Amino acid sequence: MALSVLRLSHRISRDKRITTHLALTARAFGASKFFYTGDSDSNLENSSEYVTKEWGGNFTISFVDNPTNFIKEWKRKEGIVVHLTMYGIELSEQLKLLRSRINDYILVVVGGSKVPGHIFQLADYNIAIGHQPHSEVAALAVFLDNLSDCEARKHKHSNAKTKIVPTEKGKKTKNVQESSD
Ligand SMILES: C[S@@+](CC[C@H](N)C(=O)[O-])C[C@H]1O[C@@H](n2cnc3c(N)ncnc32)[C@H](O)[C@@H]1O
Repeated sequence: MALSVLRLSHRISRDKRITTHLALTARAFGASKFFYTGDSDSNLENSSEYVTKEWGGNFTISFVDNPTNFIKEWKRKEGIVVHLTMYGIELSEQLKLLRSRINDYILVVVGGSKVPGHIFQLADYNIAIGHQPHSEVAALAVFLDNLSDCEARKHKHSNAKTKIVPTEKGKKTKNVQESSD
């Protein structure tokens, strides 16, 4: 599975937490790359990189200057582009088709403030997670979780310094020196 996420129109003043949550969600649900456009934000990049160092895995975050060129280039290299929008086709209707393309390079695009019309045209698939407005974080989590049939979130990240020891009550973690999984 080669999944990447592109977050459009990050605004440092308004989106600090939500874009951080998008990156965390992308990582936890199986994406390996996170791209964002809008304001370049070193704090966002540092906090995402810190989480990956602590909790493991191969996950990168990069700023993209021009989303239109980036998406066109992605398609030129034969990657596919899935734009999450409440105006699209319900995920359940397209899930089988999207799962059949799981080994292609999939770029999942999520919006912030108003998404320009040409993004809808450029996307190979405009997919709705229900036809009600909600949040890009919810849309991304539901999309990735369904795409992997709930498997990605159970993945054990390599090179984690900290791991959770699941418990019925309380919070338990262990420090890991070296990990082979
Ligand atoms: C809070 S919404 C704002 C949308 C913006 N007002 C517009 O007109 O495009 C931010 C993003 O969340 C995602 N989103 C929200 N509701 C969704 C839904 N029902 N299905 C899929 N994606 C959704 C989309 O990626 C959207 O661009």
